[in-house]
Amino acid sequence: MRSVEGKNILVTGGAGFIGSHLCDALLEKGAGKVVCVDNMFLGKMENIEEALQHNNFVFYKDDARNFGVLQAIMEREKIEVVFNMATIALNYSFFNPFDAYMVNVEIANTLLELLKLGVYRTLIHTSSSEAYGTAQYSPMDENHPTDPTTPYAAGKAAADLMVHSFSKVLELDISIVRPFNNYGPRQNAEGPLAGIIPATARRIKNGGKPVIDGDGEQTRDFIYVKDTVRGLMLAYENKASRGTIINLGTGMDISMNRLLSGICDYMGYSGEWDHRGARTSDVRKLCADISKARELLGFKPMMSFDDGIRETLDWYMHNDII
Ligand SMILES: NC(=O)c1ccc[n+]([C@@H]2O[C@H](COP(=O)([O-])OP(=O)(O)OC[C@H]3O[C@@H](n4cnc5c(N)ncnc54)[C@H](O)[C@@H]3O)[C@@H](O)[C@H]2O)c1
Repeated sequence: MRSVEGKNILVTGGAGFIGSHLCDALLEKGAGKVVCVDNMFLGKMENIEEALQHNNFVFYKDDARNFGVLQAIMEREKIEVVFNMATIALNYSFFNPFDAYMVNVEIANTLLELLKLGVYRTLIHTSSSEAYGTAQYSPMDENHPTDPTTPYAAGKAAADLMVHSFSKVLELDISIVRPFNNYGPRQNAEGPLAGIIPATARRIKNGGKPVIDGDGEQTRDFIYVKDTVRGLMLAYENKASRGTIINLGTGMDISMNRLLSGICDYMGYSGEWDHRGARTSDVRKLCADISKARELLGFKPMMSFDDGIRETLDWYMHNDII
């Protein structure tokens, strides 16, 4: 088993939701250097406030698609490992489908070229459960067919194929981690790309009504962000993850109706909900089979949904974000 201790690690999208928690965890675990590359499309300086207190944390406001820029950063910082967390959120697919798709593919392409050239040694690539599309059986293991329903998801699935094929043909040191729906502190709370939990809490706080798409019986497997971060680090530490795709979820799915009820209970709201039509291309059911993560990585989610949703909403309220 190898360790992140003493390693120089680059995190693309490290000022975003999951990436910023990963930067904190890597610093806590004794990484030699943590280098965050984020173009701040959705990243926030507040997310990396704690990380910036460390002498061995470096932030570059740059585009991870740019081969020359990444090569220069990797060489200067002597990067050994890359966690690829950069993306543009799913909802962007509805405004700019081309870029929502391409950003995932182009970043993967740049990182693979640099890995092939030996500029760094190990890539932990982040996929998404959205690559599967609606569950054809449940829980969904890694052999479930991919049938993306949005350009974002198609870009994730395409990047996965690219990364996976490179890892096979060139025998590169690559693992692909496929998280299901994340929630927790620091998820974007503003505008059309906001996560459903902060967006709903904010609406209620401002005197509005929760909004539900379709019948609200669509389900997702919600994993607490710090559990995902543990899974990502385990994927680096355990060589058994090499060249393979590994789901990270809880193994339980929750309907949007239940999720919104939980938020309403927390906020003390008992009023009406706004019902919108079903969202174009909304996935109906997502639930992870996490046997592979358990067997190969010894992964087990630690946070229960009830505790996690409370901690998440406490964080948003105490930080005055909603
Ligand atoms: N949040 C979830 O529920 C979830 C679920 C499954 C998989 N994932 C995957 O986890 C990863 C992190 O997602 P997140 O929820 O933290 O998203 P996020 O939007 O909060 O973070 C992504 C970060 O990438 C940055 N970014 C975008 N384009 C970039 C570019 N060209 N160069 C550099 N930085 C760029 C953004 O500014 C942002 O800070 C993504 O790969 C995502 O697909 C997320």
